[in-house]
Amino acid sequence: MEKGTLLYEGKAKKLFKTTDPAVVWAEYLNQATALNGLKKDQINGKGELNNQITAYIFDFLNTKEINNHFIKKISSTEQLIQPLEIIPLEVVVRNVAAGSFSKRLGITEGEVLDQPIVEFYYKEDQLDDPMVIDAHINYLGLASDQELAQLRQLALKINQALNELFNSIEIALIDFKVEFGRQKDGSILLADEISPDTCRLWDKKTNEHLDKDIYRRNLGDIVPVYQEVLNRLEKRGK
Ligand code: TMP
Repeated sequence: MEKGTLLYEGKAKKLFKTTDPAVVWAEYLNQATALNGLKKDQINGKGELNNQITAYIFDFLNTKEINNHFIKKISSTEQLIQPLEIIPLEVVVRNVAAGSFSKRLGITEGEVLDQPIVEFYYKEDQLDDPMVIDAHINYLGLASDQELAQLRQLALKINQALNELFNSIEIALIDFKVEFGRQKDGSILLADEISPDTCRLWDKKTNEHLDKDIYRRNLGDIVPVYQEVLNRLEKRGK
């Protein structure tokens, strides 16, 4: 199997076709962005760390019977994934108030929620990824009612599994974002990445940020922090 032409170039990843139609070649980039691309930097080592962390997490989710697009890691910055038709929704699950939730609703960051909250955002850079409700998703034809119900259920199942994983390495999972795609037969798979770019992770002892808020809020260098997350995962073993 060989790497083919560029399929898609995102802010953090490039996807390439391969000679096998059942396989897509993903390359993790060193680019970091925030504020819908207004803040942008090259950060050496970031692509490598997110590729490795995502590979670890997607392998772990497979053991929890959460089907996902990950096939295997092939180099420090590359992995093979299954081709999917991406559903243009960012599915956010929150366990603790933070970020846009705290800002929008005036709730102090760190307040623990009674139960996890699932939110949907329409992936559309030109609109700044607005939050959408079911009726909007329905009107825009982004996903069927049945698919939406499935996305909610899957998001909560992923939350449970990720909470177990991060708890075991002394990290609190504050919130995270996931994306899903459809296979040819219409079944839904978890896609994209799960890394400190897409999760809020706080050290359980110190409440220190171990995630992209370090970059978004100009709190320092993300590389040692992402490395710490990877080290803890690797120390944990499979
Ligand atoms: P928010 O508080 O900014 O809405 O973010 C919620 C979670 O989703 C947080 O863990 C960061 C993640 N996220 C992304 O991965 N990509 C995005 O474009 C946004 C807005 C959030």
